[in-house]
Amino acid sequence: MSWPETTRRVADGSLEFGGVSAVDLAREFGTPLYVFDESTLRSRARWIRDAFLHAYERSRLVYAGKAYLSPALMRILVEERIGLDVVSGGEIYAGLRAEVDPRQMIFHGNNKSRAELEEAVAAGVGLIAIDNDLEITLLENAARDSGRTVDVVLRLNPGVEVHTHHKMRTGATDSKFGFPVWDGQAEEAAARICRSTHLHLVGYHAHVGSQIFDPTLVAQTIGVIMEFAGQVHVRSGVIPAVVIPGGGFGIADDASGADVDIGAWAKAAANAIERGCLTHGFPLPILVVEPGRAIIGPSGLTLYSVGSQKMVPTVRTYVSVDGGMADNIRPALYGARYAATLANRDPAGEPLQTVTIAGKYCESGDVLIDDALLPGLEAGDLLAVPMTGAYCLAMASNYNLSPRPAVVIVAGGAARLIRRRETYADLLSSDVFDSAASAEFDQPRLSAQKGSL
Ligand SMILES: Cc1ncc(COP(=O)(O)O)c(C=O)c1O
Repeated sequence: MSWPETTRRVADGSLEFGGVSAVDLAREFGTPLYVFDESTLRSRARWIRDAFLHAYERSRLVYAGKAYLSPALMRILVEERIGLDVVSGGEIYAGLRAEVDPRQMIFHGNNKSRAELEEAVAAGVGLIAIDNDLEITLLENAARDSGRTVDVVLRLNPGVEVHTHHKMRTGATDSKFGFPVWDGQAEEAAARICRSTHLHLVGYHAHVGSQIFDPTLVAQTIGVIMEFAGQVHVRSGVIPAVVIPGGGFGIADDASGADVDIGAWAKAAANAIERGCLTHGFPLPILVVEPGRAIIGPSGLTLYSVGSQKMVPTVRTYVSVDGGMADNIRPALYGARYAATLANRDPAGEPLQTVTIAGKYCESGDVLIDDALLPGLEAGDLLAVPMTGAYCLAMASNYNLSPRPAVVIVAGGAARLIRRRETYADLLSSDVFDSAASAEFDQPRLSAQKGSL
């Protein structure tokens, strides 16, 4: 577990991030609140970018937007010369709004629609990762109709088994992603693309999963890619210009553990590419890596307010907070483990107790943290949960018709709102229903807000 690099406990005992006190953040923006530290975001992006450039000069970093794609945060990554991996028309749209150069985008997904492919072609997205047979047809038609030629990489299923949560594996034999390399499907797909007059095969992609801590797996994955590239070269003459082993760098988002060694990962990737090129006589291709969580995860944290508490004799004590699975589904979905710290006062010297931090949603599985060791808590206390920048807001829902939280960036003693808290009206903004009835319904609440009821 790590905190944003600007985290401090200040004289009044509260925590501050980017020079802004947690108490002030909660007062101004309410809770639950997602806080991103600009300096941590920049330094993590630079650290990963530079580690790869150091190990392999022809490397490029793209951010996997699925981890959390906020235009304001993406602008910062653009300033750090980082591209964008997108998986939907919505992410292409958000990337364009963040002024990402479309040529620096890679479009992924195992069931892209014709409309999304047309959007990608029209926007000038630099690379499309072809995942399946239908997509070859759809993209060829979209490219032909727009009169363009599109650069593509072939997404491979390399059959590499990784030791991570089964829901985070994407390149094991049993996977919905990519063309299997072991039974001729991938080779046939490559040959089909080579016959196309509108698609240009420039390389290969294989992302084998997330939360991976063993760099030898990237070497294994690239080994499979390069061997496959060799076969395609013999059959169709394609020399790979781009090799993409995905992202998935493990970070310690639980209560213990350490991040993967990015330098070792980069070196393993570089060695595997160089070895493959030597074997097949290829010039060195561009290596693209696509981390999401390793960039954004530790840059973000969540502030929650403590509410009710319940002691179940001989079982456990529940402490409920004002968020939970609607803003962070990861504990319920993957068994992800987080830790929490008291943020509004210094707990030093106070006795600690083991409690379960529960969310406020109508599911027994809505537990954020099992067995958290915390001082005695009171309603209104603030808890800070670090390492929540990735795959929390990105998967957030309006379960129980709850407005999604506000999001701020902190830097240099100031907080900037980058997403306002949703309102009740936002919750129903896409519903189509009788507007007269809605006006009647809304009226008492509006009056109450003005103090007239
Ligand atoms: C194709 C691809 N690239 C990159 C990533 C990013 O993974 P992570 O956020 O674990 O780095 C994913 C995640 O699912 C992915 O599917």
